[in-house]
Amino acid sequence: MSRITCPELRTKTASAAEAASHIDNGHRVAMSGFTGSGYPKAVPGAVADRARAAHERGDDFSVELWTGASTAPELDGVLAAAQAVSKRLPFQSDPDMRASINSGGTEYVDTHLSHSAQQAWFGFYGNLDIAVVEVAAILPNGLLVPGSSVGNSKTWLDLADKVILEVNEWHPRAYEGFHDVYYGTRRPPERLPIQLLEPMQRIGDPYLRVDPAKVVAVVETNAPDRNLPFKPTDDDSKAIANHLVDFLRHEIRADRLPPELLPLQSGVGNVANAVMGNLADSEFEGLTAYTEVIQDGMLDLLDNGKLASVSATAFSLSAERAAHFNENIESYKGRILLRTQEMSNHPEAIRRLGVIAINGMVEADIYGNVNSTHVMGSSIINGIGGSGDFARNAYLDFFVSNSLAKNGAISSIVPFASHIDHTEHDTQILVTEQGLADLRGLSPVARARKIIAACAHPDYRERLSDYLERAIAANPHGRHTPHLLGEALSWHESFTTTGRM
Ligand code: COA
Repeated sequence: MSRITCPELRTKTASAAEAASHIDNGHRVAMSGFTGSGYPKAVPGAVADRARAAHERGDDFSVELWTGASTAPELDGVLAAAQAVSKRLPFQSDPDMRASINSGGTEYVDTHLSHSAQQAWFGFYGNLDIAVVEVAAILPNGLLVPGSSVGNSKTWLDLADKVILEVNEWHPRAYEGFHDVYYGTRRPPERLPIQLLEPMQRIGDPYLRVDPAKVVAVVETNAPDRNLPFKPTDDDSKAIANHLVDFLRHEIRADRLPPELLPLQSGVGNVANAVMGNLADSEFEGLTAYTEVIQDGMLDLLDNGKLASVSATAFSLSAERAAHFNENIESYKGRILLRTQEMSNHPEAIRRLGVIAINGMVEADIYGNVNSTHVMGSSIINGIGGSGDFARNAYLDFFVSNSLAKNGAISSIVPFASHIDHTEHDTQILVTEQGLADLRGLSPVARARKIIAACAHPDYRERLSDYLERAIAANPHGRHTPHLLGEALSWHESFTTTGRM
Protein backbone atom coordinates (compact mmCIF):
# COMPACT_ATOMS: atom_id res chain seq x y z
CA MET A 1 0.00 0.00 0.00
CA SER A 2 1.25 3.48 -0.84
CA ARG A 3 2.78 5.50 1.97
CA ILE A 4 1.15 8.65 0.49
CA THR A 5 -2.42 8.50 1.77
CA CYS A 6 -3.21 12.23 1.54
CA PRO A 7 -5.29 12.69 -1.64
CA GLU A 8 -4.03 16.23 -2.28
CA LEU A 9 -0.37 15.31 -1.92
CA ARG A 10 -0.87 12.07 -3.82
CA THR A 11 -1.66 14.14 -6.93
CA LYS A 12 1.80 15.73 -6.68
CA THR A 13 3.73 12.49 -7.15
CA ALA A 14 6.64 13.12 -9.51
CA SER A 15 9.97 11.71 -10.64
CA ALA A 16 13.18 12.94 -9.03
CA ALA A 17 14.09 14.78 -12.25
CA GLU A 18 10.71 16.55 -12.34
CA ALA A 19 11.10 17.52 -8.70
CA ALA A 20 14.67 18.76 -9.26
CA SER A 21 13.47 21.06 -12.05
CA HIS A 22 12.13 23.33 -9.27
CA ILE A 23 15.70 23.89 -8.00
CA ASP A 24 17.59 26.58 -9.87
CA ASN A 25 21.01 28.16 -9.90
CA GLY A 26 21.51 30.42 -6.87
CA HIS A 27 18.72 28.85 -4.80
CA ARG A 28 19.03 28.31 -1.09
CA VAL A 29 18.06 24.67 -0.68
CA ALA A 30 17.52 23.03 2.69
CA MET A 31 17.45 19.26 2.92
CA SER A 32 16.61 16.86 5.71
CA GLY A 33 19.26 14.51 7.06
CA PHE A 34 21.40 14.12 10.12
CA THR A 35 24.54 11.96 10.54
CA GLY A 36 23.75 9.87 7.48
CA SER A 37 20.10 9.24 8.23
CA GLY A 38 16.80 10.57 6.95
CA TYR A 39 18.29 12.53 4.03
CA PRO A 40 16.63 12.62 0.58
CA LYS A 41 18.07 9.87 -1.61
CA ALA A 42 16.83 10.73 -5.13
CA VAL A 43 16.38 14.47 -5.69
CA PRO A 44 19.99 15.50 -4.84
CA GLY A 45 21.31 13.23 -7.61
CA ALA A 46 18.85 14.80 -10.06
CA VAL A 47 20.00 18.28 -8.96
CA ALA A 48 23.60 17.17 -9.58
CA ASP A 49 22.54 16.08 -13.10
CA ARG A 50 21.06 19.54 -13.69
CA ALA A 51 24.27 21.17 -12.47
CA ARG A 52 26.45 19.02 -14.74
CA ALA A 53 24.22 19.71 -17.75
CA ALA A 54 24.36 23.47 -17.03
CA HIS A 55 28.15 23.39 -16.66
CA GLU A 56 28.45 21.51 -19.97
CA ARG A 57 26.46 24.32 -21.60
CA GLY A 58 28.82 26.81 -20.00
CA ASP A 59 26.15 28.06 -17.57
CA ASP A 60 26.52 28.59 -13.83
CA PHE A 61 24.68 26.21 -11.53
CA SER A 62 25.25 26.01 -7.82
CA VAL A 63 23.07 26.21 -4.73
CA GLU A 64 23.49 26.97 -1.05
CA LEU A 65 22.91 23.73 0.80
CA TRP A 66 21.58 23.58 4.35
CA THR A 67 20.83 20.34 6.20
CA GLY A 68 20.44 19.05 9.73
CA ALA A 69 23.98 17.68 9.85
CA SER A 70 26.08 15.28 7.77
CA THR A 71 24.39 13.29 5.01
CA ALA A 72 25.83 10.76 2.56
CA PRO A 73 27.36 10.19 -0.89
CA GLU A 74 23.87 10.39 -2.47
CA LEU A 75 23.51 13.97 -1.20
CA ASP A 76 26.72 15.77 -0.18
CA GLY A 77 28.83 13.46 -2.31
CA VAL A 78 26.99 13.82 -5.64
CA LEU A 79 26.45 17.55 -5.26
CA ALA A 80 30.09 18.20 -4.32
CA ALA A 81 31.32 16.05 -7.21
CA ALA A 82 29.13 18.07 -9.59
CA GLN A 83 30.54 21.32 -8.13
CA ALA A 84 26.97 22.28 -7.38
CA VAL A 85 27.32 23.69 -3.85
CA SER A 86 28.47 27.29 -3.41
CA LYS A 87 27.90 27.34 0.35
CA ARG A 88 27.29 24.58 2.88
CA LEU A 89 25.98 24.67 6.44
CA PRO A 90 25.78 23.62 9.29
CA PHE A 91 27.81 20.32 9.31
CA GLN A 92 29.22 17.76 6.87
CA SER A 93 31.42 14.69 6.99
CA ASP A 94 31.49 13.61 3.35
CA PRO A 95 34.90 13.03 1.69
CA ASP A 96 33.91 14.83 -1.56
CA MET A 97 32.29 17.76 0.25
CA ARG A 98 35.29 17.98 2.59
CA ALA A 99 37.60 18.11 -0.46
CA SER A 100 35.47 20.80 -2.10
CA ILE A 101 35.57 22.90 1.08
CA ASN A 102 39.29 22.41 1.65
CA SER A 103 40.11 23.28 -1.96
CA GLY A 104 38.08 26.50 -1.70
CA GLY A 105 35.31 25.37 -4.08
CA THR A 106 32.59 25.48 -1.42
CA GLU A 107 32.23 28.00 1.39
CA TYR A 108 31.49 26.25 4.68
CA VAL A 109 29.69 27.86 7.62
CA ASP A 110 30.51 25.44 10.44
CA THR A 111 27.76 26.08 12.97
CA HIS A 112 26.73 24.87 16.42
CA LEU A 113 23.91 22.46 15.59
CA SER A 114 21.53 24.01 18.11
CA HIS A 115 22.06 27.36 16.39
CA SER A 116 21.22 26.44 12.80
CA ALA A 117 17.42 26.35 13.06
CA GLN A 118 17.12 29.46 15.18
CA GLN A 119 19.57 31.43 13.05
CA ALA A 120 17.54 30.49 9.97
CA TRP A 121 14.41 31.64 11.84
CA PHE A 122 16.11 34.91 12.71
CA GLY A 123 16.78 35.46 9.01
CA PHE A 124 20.56 35.40 9.43
CA TYR A 125 21.05 33.15 6.38
CA GLY A 126 18.57 34.82 4.01
CA ASN A 127 15.35 33.55 2.46
CA LEU A 128 14.95 29.79 2.01
CA ASP A 129 13.81 29.00 -1.51
CA ILE A 130 13.08 25.30 -1.30
CA ALA A 131 13.15 22.40 1.16
CA VAL A 132 13.65 18.75 0.25
CA VAL A 133 12.58 16.54 3.14
CA GLU A 134 12.52 12.76 3.43
CA VAL A 135 9.73 11.17 5.46
CA ALA A 136 8.49 7.65 6.16
CA ALA A 137 4.85 8.31 5.30
CA ILE A 138 2.23 10.96 4.58
CA LEU A 139 -1.02 10.56 6.53
CA PRO A 140 -4.50 11.13 5.04
CA ASN A 141 -4.66 14.55 6.74
CA GLY A 142 -1.31 15.59 5.25
CA LEU A 143 0.75 15.20 8.43
CA LEU A 144 4.20 13.73 7.86
CA VAL A 145 5.73 10.77 9.71
CA PRO A 146 9.50 11.34 9.91
CA GLY A 147 11.94 8.45 9.54
CA SER A 148 15.36 7.93 11.09
CA SER A 149 16.09 11.60 11.80
CA VAL A 150 14.26 14.81 12.61
CA GLY A 151 17.16 17.28 12.54
CA ASN A 152 16.09 20.64 11.11
CA SER A 153 13.23 19.27 8.98
CA LYS A 154 10.55 21.12 10.93
CA THR A 155 12.27 24.45 10.41
CA TRP A 156 12.96 23.84 6.72
CA LEU A 157 9.30 22.89 6.10
CA ASP A 158 8.14 26.02 7.93
CA LEU A 159 10.52 28.48 6.27
CA ALA A 160 10.79 27.30 2.67
CA ASP A 161 8.82 28.93 -0.15
CA LYS A 162 8.43 25.54 -1.85
CA VAL A 163 8.69 21.97 -0.58
CA ILE A 164 9.65 18.66 -2.18
CA LEU A 165 8.90 15.53 -0.17
CA GLU A 166 10.62 12.18 -0.59
CA VAL A 167 8.66 9.28 0.88
CA ASN A 168 11.11 6.44 1.54
CA GLU A 169 9.64 2.97 2.05
CA TRP A 170 12.94 1.69 3.45
CA HIS A 171 12.00 3.37 6.73
CA PRO A 172 9.63 1.11 8.66
CA ARG A 173 6.05 2.41 8.65
CA ALA A 174 6.16 1.73 12.39
CA TYR A 175 8.27 4.87 12.88
CA GLU A 176 4.99 6.62 13.67
CA GLY A 177 5.11 7.53 17.36
CA PHE A 178 8.92 7.74 17.68
CA HIS A 179 9.15 11.50 17.20
CA ASP A 180 8.58 14.64 19.22
CA VAL A 181 8.50 17.78 17.09
CA TYR A 182 8.45 20.96 19.17
CA TYR A 183 6.20 23.64 17.68
CA GLY A 184 6.65 26.26 20.40
CA THR A 185 9.54 28.10 18.73
CA ARG A 186 9.27 31.88 19.04
CA ARG A 187 11.70 34.62 18.26
CA PRO A 188 12.92 36.81 21.13
CA PRO A 189 11.42 38.67 22.92
CA GLU A 190 8.43 36.27 22.71
CA ARG A 191 10.49 33.19 23.52
CA LEU A 192 9.11 30.84 26.17
CA PRO A 193 10.87 28.45 28.57
CA ILE A 194 11.34 24.92 27.24
CA GLN A 195 9.24 22.81 29.63
CA LEU A 196 11.39 19.72 29.35
CA LEU A 197 12.08 18.26 32.78
CA GLU A 198 13.20 14.73 32.00
CA PRO A 199 14.84 13.16 28.93
CA MET A 200 11.83 11.25 27.58
CA GLN A 201 9.23 13.93 28.20
CA ARG A 202 7.13 14.79 25.17
CA ILE A 203 6.80 18.50 24.53
CA GLY A 204 5.70 18.46 20.88
CA ASP A 205 3.82 16.53 18.20
CA PRO A 206 4.62 13.10 16.73
CA TYR A 207 4.37 14.55 13.20
CA LEU A 208 5.89 17.19 10.96
CA ARG A 209 3.46 19.68 9.48
CA VAL A 210 3.58 21.07 5.95
CA ASP A 211 1.38 23.51 4.12
CA PRO A 212 0.18 21.33 1.19
CA ALA A 213 -0.02 24.41 -1.04
CA LYS A 214 3.79 24.77 -0.81
CA VAL A 215 4.45 21.18 -1.89
CA VAL A 216 5.54 21.09 -5.53
CA ALA A 217 6.49 17.41 -5.80
CA VAL A 218 6.33 14.15 -3.88
CA VAL A 219 8.92 11.54 -4.88
CA GLU A 220 8.68 7.89 -3.85
CA THR A 221 11.91 6.04 -2.98
CA ASN A 222 13.06 2.83 -1.36
CA ALA A 223 16.69 3.24 -0.39
CA PRO A 224 18.72 2.68 2.79
CA ASP A 225 20.42 5.31 4.90
CA ARG A 226 24.20 5.67 4.71
CA ASN A 227 24.82 3.20 7.54
CA LEU A 228 28.63 3.19 7.62
CA PRO A 229 30.49 0.63 9.70
CA PHE A 230 32.40 1.74 12.80
CA LYS A 231 36.01 0.79 13.43
CA PRO A 232 36.15 -2.28 15.70
CA THR A 233 36.79 -1.42 19.34
CA ASP A 234 40.54 -1.63 19.95
CA ASP A 235 42.69 -1.68 23.09
CA ASP A 236 43.08 2.11 23.08
CA SER A 237 39.35 2.84 23.01
CA LYS A 238 38.85 0.15 25.70
CA ALA A 239 41.47 1.91 27.83
CA ILE A 240 39.74 5.28 27.27
CA ALA A 241 36.40 3.75 28.28
CA ASN A 242 37.93 2.17 31.39
CA HIS A 243 39.41 5.48 32.57
CA LEU A 244 36.08 7.18 31.98
CA VAL A 245 34.02 4.53 33.74
CA ASP A 246 36.41 4.52 36.74
CA PHE A 247 36.02 8.26 36.96
CA LEU A 248 32.20 7.98 36.95
CA ARG A 249 32.48 5.46 39.83
CA HIS A 250 34.68 7.92 41.67
CA GLU A 251 32.09 10.67 41.19
CA ILE A 252 29.34 8.40 42.56
CA ARG A 253 31.48 7.64 45.64
CA ALA A 254 32.07 11.38 46.09
CA ASP A 255 28.28 11.91 45.95
CA ARG A 256 28.55 14.10 42.88
CA LEU A 257 26.58 11.63 40.71
CA PRO A 258 23.63 9.33 41.46
CA PRO A 259 24.22 5.56 40.94
CA GLU A 260 22.23 5.61 37.70
CA LEU A 261 24.37 8.59 36.58
CA LEU A 262 22.78 11.53 34.73
CA PRO A 263 21.60 11.51 31.08
CA LEU A 264 24.44 10.57 28.74
CA GLN A 265 25.43 12.26 25.50
CA SER A 266 27.86 10.54 23.17
CA GLY A 267 29.28 12.34 20.17
CA VAL A 268 29.98 11.19 16.63
CA GLY A 269 33.05 9.17 15.78
CA ASN A 270 34.63 5.83 16.44
CA VAL A 271 36.08 6.60 19.85
CA ALA A 272 32.86 8.01 21.34
CA ASN A 273 30.98 5.00 19.89
CA ALA A 274 33.47 2.58 21.43
CA VAL A 275 33.16 4.25 24.84
CA MET A 276 29.39 3.67 24.75
CA GLY A 277 29.92 0.06 23.71
CA ASN A 278 32.25 -0.49 26.64
CA LEU A 279 29.81 0.99 29.14
CA ALA A 280 27.74 -2.09 28.29
CA ASP A 281 30.24 -4.18 30.31
CA SER A 282 30.05 -1.91 33.34
CA GLU A 283 27.89 -2.34 36.45
CA PHE A 284 25.75 0.75 35.75
CA GLU A 285 22.01 0.17 35.46
CA GLY A 286 18.96 2.28 34.66
CA LEU A 287 20.93 4.74 32.54
CA THR A 288 19.26 7.38 30.38
CA ALA A 289 20.55 9.40 27.43
CA TYR A 290 19.83 12.91 26.20
CA THR A 291 21.97 12.97 23.12
CA GLU A 292 22.23 13.96 19.50
CA VAL A 293 22.86 10.67 17.66
CA ILE A 294 22.19 7.05 18.47
CA GLN A 295 25.22 5.11 17.24
CA ASP A 296 25.74 1.36 17.48
CA GLY A 297 27.25 1.62 20.97
CA MET A 298 24.13 3.26 22.36
CA LEU A 299 21.83 0.72 20.71
CA ASP A 300 23.95 -2.02 22.34
CA LEU A 301 23.36 -0.37 25.71
CA LEU A 302 19.60 -0.29 25.05
CA ASP A 303 19.63 -3.92 23.93
CA ASN A 304 21.41 -5.20 27.00
CA GLY A 305 19.07 -3.27 29.28
CA LYS A 306 21.69 -0.95 30.82
CA LEU A 307 20.09 2.00 29.11
CA ALA A 308 16.42 2.55 29.87
CA SER A 309 15.73 5.16 27.20
CA VAL A 310 17.28 7.57 24.70
CA SER A 311 16.24 11.00 23.50
CA ALA A 312 18.12 12.05 20.34
CA THR A 313 17.55 13.65 16.96
CA ALA A 314 18.85 10.89 14.66
CA PHE A 315 20.35 7.46 14.25
CA SER A 316 23.83 6.86 12.90
CA LEU A 317 24.07 3.09 12.67
CA SER A 318 26.10 0.51 10.81
CA ALA A 319 24.15 -1.40 8.15
CA GLU A 320 23.94 -4.45 10.39
CA ARG A 321 22.56 -2.54 13.39
CA ALA A 322 20.17 -0.52 11.18
CA ALA A 323 18.74 -3.77 9.78
CA HIS A 324 18.37 -5.10 13.33
CA PHE A 325 16.61 -1.93 14.43
CA ASN A 326 14.24 -1.90 11.44
CA GLU A 327 13.30 -5.55 12.00
CA ASN A 328 12.68 -5.03 15.72
CA ILE A 329 11.40 -1.46 15.70
CA GLU A 330 8.29 -2.23 17.76
CA SER A 331 10.45 -3.38 20.68
CA TYR A 332 12.07 0.08 20.87
CA LYS A 333 8.83 2.05 20.97
CA GLY A 334 8.66 4.19 24.09
CA ARG A 335 12.38 3.76 24.69
CA ILE A 336 13.59 6.02 21.86
CA LEU A 337 12.38 9.55 21.12
CA LEU A 338 13.65 11.58 18.16
CA ARG A 339 13.36 15.36 18.56
CA THR A 340 14.26 18.36 16.44
CA GLN A 341 17.96 19.18 16.78
CA GLU A 342 16.95 22.52 18.27
CA MET A 343 15.68 20.50 21.25
CA SER A 344 18.11 17.55 21.32
CA ASN A 345 20.94 20.09 21.53
CA HIS A 346 19.18 22.84 23.42
CA PRO A 347 21.53 24.49 25.94
CA GLU A 348 18.63 25.08 28.33
CA ALA A 349 17.64 21.39 28.35
CA ILE A 350 21.23 20.13 28.51
CA ARG A 351 22.02 22.33 31.50
CA ARG A 352 18.77 21.57 33.32
CA LEU A 353 19.04 17.81 32.87
CA GLY A 354 22.73 17.77 33.88
CA VAL A 355 23.95 15.86 30.84
CA ILE A 356 27.23 13.89 30.92
CA ALA A 357 28.80 14.80 27.56
CA ILE A 358 31.40 12.61 25.85
CA ASN A 359 32.84 13.90 22.58
CA GLY A 360 35.78 13.07 20.36
CA MET A 361 38.54 15.57 19.64
CA VAL A 362 41.38 16.01 17.17
CA GLU A 363 43.80 17.55 19.64
CA ALA A 364 43.97 19.45 22.91
CA ASP A 365 46.67 21.77 24.07
CA ILE A 366 48.38 21.66 27.41
CA TYR A 367 45.93 24.21 28.84
CA GLY A 368 42.83 22.33 27.71
CA ASN A 369 41.79 24.21 24.57
CA VAL A 370 40.24 21.61 22.29
CA ASN A 371 40.31 21.33 18.51
CA SER A 372 37.45 19.15 17.24
CA THR A 373 37.53 20.08 13.61
CA HIS A 374 40.81 20.95 11.87
CA VAL A 375 43.98 19.15 10.84
CA MET A 376 47.07 21.33 11.20
CA GLY A 377 44.90 24.38 11.82
CA SER A 378 43.75 24.61 8.21
CA SER A 379 41.82 21.71 6.75
CA ILE A 380 38.40 20.81 8.07
CA ILE A 381 37.55 17.21 8.96
CA ASN A 382 33.83 17.36 9.79
CA GLY A 383 32.73 20.34 11.84
CA ILE A 384 31.91 21.37 15.41
CA GLY A 385 28.52 19.64 15.21
CA GLY A 386 26.83 19.51 18.58
CA SER A 387 30.02 19.23 20.58
CA GLY A 388 29.90 22.89 21.64
CA ASP A 389 26.21 22.74 22.53
CA PHE A 390 26.94 19.90 24.92
CA ALA A 391 30.44 20.77 26.13
CA ARG A 392 29.62 24.22 27.44
CA ASN A 393 26.33 23.23 29.05
CA ALA A 394 26.97 19.73 30.36
CA TYR A 395 27.17 18.74 34.02
CA LEU A 396 30.30 16.76 33.21
CA ASP A 397 32.11 17.30 29.96
CA PHE A 398 34.63 14.76 28.58
CA PHE A 399 36.77 15.04 25.46
CA VAL A 400 38.28 11.74 24.35
CA SER A 401 41.00 10.84 21.86
CA ASN A 402 43.92 8.55 21.32
CA SER A 403 47.10 10.28 22.48
CA LEU A 404 48.70 9.66 19.08
CA ALA A 405 47.49 9.97 15.48
CA LYS A 406 48.95 8.83 12.15
CA ASN A 407 51.03 6.00 13.61
CA GLY A 408 52.66 8.20 16.21
CA ALA A 409 53.73 11.01 13.88
CA ILE A 410 51.22 13.30 15.61
CA SER A 411 50.69 13.94 19.31
CA SER A 412 47.07 14.74 20.19
CA ILE A 413 48.38 16.79 23.11
CA VAL A 414 50.26 19.81 21.78
CA PRO A 415 51.75 23.03 23.18
CA PHE A 416 49.07 25.12 21.48
CA ALA A 417 45.99 23.88 19.63
CA SER A 418 46.18 24.76 15.94
CA HIS A 419 42.44 25.57 15.94
CA ILE A 420 40.18 26.05 18.95
CA ASP A 421 36.55 24.95 19.04
CA HIS A 422 36.22 24.57 22.81
CA THR A 423 38.19 26.90 25.00
CA GLU A 424 39.92 25.89 28.22
CA HIS A 425 36.85 27.33 30.00
CA ASP A 426 34.60 24.67 28.43
CA THR A 427 36.84 21.65 28.92
CA GLN A 428 36.44 19.74 32.16
CA ILE A 429 37.93 16.30 31.62
CA LEU A 430 40.34 15.04 28.96
CA VAL A 431 40.78 11.32 28.39
CA THR A 432 43.27 9.41 26.26
CA GLU A 433 44.30 5.75 26.47
CA GLN A 434 47.14 6.98 28.72
CA GLY A 435 44.83 8.34 31.39
CA LEU A 436 42.33 10.96 32.49
CA ALA A 437 42.94 14.59 33.46
CA ASP A 438 40.24 16.07 35.68
CA LEU A 439 40.69 19.80 35.11
CA ARG A 440 37.82 21.07 37.23
CA GLY A 441 38.84 23.91 39.49
CA LEU A 442 42.44 24.01 38.27
CA SER A 443 44.43 27.04 37.12
CA PRO A 444 46.09 26.93 33.65
CA VAL A 445 49.55 25.80 34.80
CA ALA A 446 48.08 23.16 37.12
CA ARG A 447 45.93 21.97 34.22
CA ALA A 448 48.95 21.79 31.94
CA ARG A 449 50.93 19.67 34.41
CA LYS A 450 47.98 17.31 34.81
CA ILE A 451 47.24 16.97 31.08
CA ILE A 452 50.89 16.26 30.26
CA ALA A 453 51.26 13.71 33.06
CA ALA A 454 47.93 11.95 32.56
CA CYS A 455 47.05 12.21 28.85
CA ALA A 456 50.16 12.76 26.71
CA HIS A 457 51.87 9.78 25.12
CA PRO A 458 55.25 8.96 26.77
CA ASP A 459 56.99 9.64 23.41
CA TYR A 460 55.94 13.31 23.64
CA ARG A 461 55.58 13.83 27.42
CA GLU A 462 59.09 15.07 28.15
CA ARG A 463 59.06 17.55 25.29
CA LEU A 464 55.71 18.95 26.47
CA SER A 465 57.02 19.35 30.05
CA ASP A 466 60.15 20.98 28.71
CA TYR A 467 58.02 23.44 26.68
CA LEU A 468 55.89 24.26 29.71
CA GLU A 469 58.81 24.78 32.11
CA ARG A 470 60.70 26.94 29.62
CA ALA A 471 57.53 28.98 28.95
CA ILE A 472 57.12 29.56 32.69
CA ALA A 473 60.78 30.55 33.07
CA ALA A 474 60.73 32.89 30.06
CA ASN A 475 57.65 34.82 31.19
CA PRO A 476 58.51 36.53 34.50
CA HIS A 477 55.35 38.68 34.30
CA GLY A 478 53.17 36.36 32.23
CA ARG A 479 52.92 33.21 34.29
CA HIS A 480 49.16 32.78 34.17
CA THR A 481 49.08 30.92 30.84
CA PRO A 482 52.73 30.98 29.77
CA HIS A 483 53.62 30.39 26.13
CA LEU A 484 56.69 30.65 23.95
CA LEU A 485 54.94 32.40 21.10
CA GLY A 486 57.57 31.64 18.48
CA GLU A 487 57.45 27.96 19.36
CA ALA A 488 53.79 27.43 20.27
CA LEU A 489 52.83 26.04 16.83
CA SER A 490 56.25 24.64 15.96
CA TRP A 491 55.05 21.05 16.42
CA HIS A 492 52.46 21.54 13.66
CA GLU A 493 54.99 23.37 11.53
CA SER A 494 57.36 20.44 11.95
CA PHE A 495 54.63 17.96 10.87
CA THR A 496 53.86 19.91 7.71
CA THR A 497 57.54 20.08 6.73
CA THR A 498 58.95 16.76 8.01
CA GLY A 499 55.87 14.54 8.40
CA ARG A 500 56.42 14.26 12.15
CA MET A 501 55.75 16.53 15.12
N1 COA B 1 45.82 15.32 13.84
C1 COA B 1 45.51 14.92 12.59
N2 COA B 1 44.56 14.00 12.33
C2 COA B 1 43.93 13.44 13.39
C3 COA B 1 44.24 13.78 14.71
C4 COA B 1 45.23 14.77 14.92
N3 COA B 1 45.56 15.17 16.14
N4 COA B 1 43.45 13.05 15.53
C5 COA B 1 42.68 12.28 14.75
N5 COA B 1 42.97 12.51 13.46
C6 COA B 1 42.37 11.86 12.28
C7 COA B 1 42.52 10.35 12.39
O1 COA B 1 43.78 9.92 11.94
C8 COA B 1 41.38 9.89 11.49
O2 COA B 1 41.78 10.04 10.14
P1 COA B 1 41.61 8.83 9.10
O3 COA B 1 40.12 8.65 8.99
O4 COA B 1 42.24 9.37 7.87
O5 COA B 1 42.29 7.66 9.74
C9 COA B 1 40.29 10.93 11.76
O6 COA B 1 40.97 12.09 12.28
C10 COA B 1 39.26 10.45 12.77
O7 COA B 1 39.96 10.04 13.92
P2 COA B 1 39.52 8.84 14.88
O8 COA B 1 40.65 8.61 15.82
O9 COA B 1 38.99 7.67 14.11
O10 COA B 1 38.42 9.53 15.75
P3 COA B 1 36.86 9.65 15.64
O11 COA B 1 36.24 8.84 14.56
O12 COA B 1 36.43 9.39 17.03
O13 COA B 1 36.62 11.18 15.24
C11 COA B 1 36.61 13.56 15.43
C12 COA B 1 37.19 12.23 15.94
C13 COA B 1 37.17 14.69 16.26
C14 COA B 1 36.97 13.75 13.95
C15 COA B 1 35.06 13.47 15.58
O14 COA B 1 34.75 13.21 16.92
C16 COA B 1 34.36 14.77 15.17
O15 COA B 1 34.13 15.02 13.99
N6 COA B 1 34.05 15.63 16.16
C17 COA B 1 33.43 16.93 15.92
C18 COA B 1 31.93 16.87 15.92
C19 COA B 1 31.38 16.35 17.21
O16 COA B 1 32.04 16.24 18.22
N7 COA B 1 30.10 16.03 17.19
C20 COA B 1 29.47 15.42 18.32
C21 COA B 1 28.42 16.23 18.89
S1 COA B 1 27.05 15.27 19.37
